[in-house]
Amino acid sequence: NSSLEKTLLASIRTIPDYPKPGILFRDITTLLGDARAFRRAVDELVHPFAGTKIDKIAGIEARGFILGGAIAHQLSAGFVPIRKKGKLPHETVRVAYSLEYGVDEMEMHKDAIAPGERVLLVDDLIATGGTAEGAVKLLKQMGADIAAACFVIDLPDLGGRAKLETLGVEVRTLVA
Ligand code: PRP
Ligand code: HPA
Repeated sequence: NSSLEKTLLASIRTIPDYPKPGILFRDITTLLGDARAFRRAVDELVHPFAGTKIDKIAGIEARGFILGGAIAHQLSAGFVPIRKKGKLPHETVRVAYSLEYGVDEMEMHKDAIAPGERVLLVDDLIATGGTAEGAVKLLKQMGADIAAACFVIDLPDLGGRAKLETLGVEVRTLVA
């Protein structure tokens, strides 16, 4: 397991002062471009749910789409995109959310999840948890049964995990 953590940490690039001065940006494009690291990250996120009933993966734009698509395939689940406002063509539910460096609104299609469906929320990274909290609100509004929220990276100093756990959501992360 620590060999997994080593592989993943070594594949993540850190960019200082992006997108704003003072922010240390953890860049997962290097993890995604490393075949072994990408596969191991996806396998590790899938593992606790293999053989359990997961109806849908809800992936958060944009990097949650890449991981979520791979996870959906491995769990034979459907994939539902949670997008920044104005990108989805059909009727949507919308929520405002705050993140480490700004505010925005996100949406999902009204008919994307049926009440009672078991859903796994996926993104690349949890920082303040504002984005994931918004996604959880949308999923709850749809009547989803949230199995867990999964991330490759946790930035523990920013308190996102605690925020989601307060909402009663199980949080799984691979590296901190
Ligand atoms: C990043 C990241 C998470 C979110 C985490 O996405 O991929 O979605 O921020 O921050 P939080 O826990 O403080 O809310 P970003 O908003 O940069 O969007 P992008 O993936 O479209 O670039
Ligand atoms: N990396 C990528 N996305 C992020 C970060 C980060 O360090 N902080 C908030 N969103």
